[in-house]
Amino acid sequence: MALSDYTSELISTANSLASPGKGILAVDESTKTIGKRLGSIGVENTEANRQAYRGMLFTAPGLGEFISGAILFEETLFQNHLDGDSMVSKLGRLGIIPGIKVDKGLRPLAGAGAVETLCTGLDGLIERAADYYAQGARFAKWRAVLQITSDGGPTALAVRENAWGLARYARSVQESGLVPIVEPEILMDGNHSIETTACIQEHVIQEVYNACQANGVLLEGTLLKPSMTVPGADCSTQSDPAQVAAMTVRTLERSVPASVPGIVFLSGGLSEEAASVYLNQMNTIERKAKWNLGFSYGRALQHSCLKGWGGTNIEAGQKALLARAQANSEASLGRYVPGSQPSSDEQLFVSGYTY
Ligand code: 13P
Repeated sequence: MALSDYTSELISTANSLASPGKGILAVDESTKTIGKRLGSIGVENTEANRQAYRGMLFTAPGLGEFISGAILFEETLFQNHLDGDSMVSKLGRLGIIPGIKVDKGLRPLAGAGAVETLCTGLDGLIERAADYYAQGARFAKWRAVLQITSDGGPTALAVRENAWGLARYARSVQESGLVPIVEPEILMDGNHSIETTACIQEHVIQEVYNACQANGVLLEGTLLKPSMTVPGADCSTQSDPAQVAAMTVRTLERSVPASVPGIVFLSGGLSEEAASVYLNQMNTIERKAKWNLGFSYGRALQHSCLKGWGGTNIEAGQKALLARAQANSEASLGRYVPGSQPSSDEQLFVSGYTY
């Protein structure tokens, strides 16, 4: 099979994932990262506890009303729920499309800045993607990371390497029928202004689409997952929701082709409430482009849920998840009333965050 055999399916999957009023639940934390999350509520990082936690998420009644897709870590894609059903079929019952994180993590980028990385996992990717497709996955994620630093980063080398890696990945998984989520995250670390973020992000996203064009990526069968255009976490001037929304939309309008059906933001360390409020604001302003502006949050969908669950309380965990899923669904339609759903204002930003 080749990309051309999957063209209409890729377009249809991408459009389903970007359905108005729905977003993506990112639950693809590596075993190490989920260990930190479970540790924060005093739960041991065992396969059984990961199964219990994620099984709770994937059986939340009515979740599919707000969530179109869930990104899984490889273990979960091949895992069963405690009741013997596969996790994939649990998601299917809710009408949620399973996706898979396919990158193999970040490594130092030789010849670039001290904190700069490349994203690994291209070797054998077409074959791995075919196995994931056979197991039920229909979309993929690859997270490339760039950082704005006081010594001029990101370097041209890091921008070029990460854009190229994203495009190679996108083309490779499309060959096996998976819709690529293209994620060039710009970390919030630093004291730079929102104008600096906008200028760098515009360039980074343009480079990503130049590389996609060079690799023959079918843009109609992709989604973009950017960070929002925000000032550095240590910037002395923080921005209000109206500024973040205006700068983010301007950046995207200057860099994302109209053929991309949906843009789904990561939450990147924003609080649950800020992630909803910023997204809502973007969906209330007049826009030039038609792409759907939605969400693909990890921390901003799971923070209160994890605390509510606490290792055993399925009902409280599901209730908190549904509250944030509904809030973000409303935000993606520009209808979220801030504070109308329980949420946390706790900053989830962690410097040098790894996923
Ligand atoms: P956060 O929303 O926690 O940033 O995670 C989303 C994600 O999938 C990052 O790759």
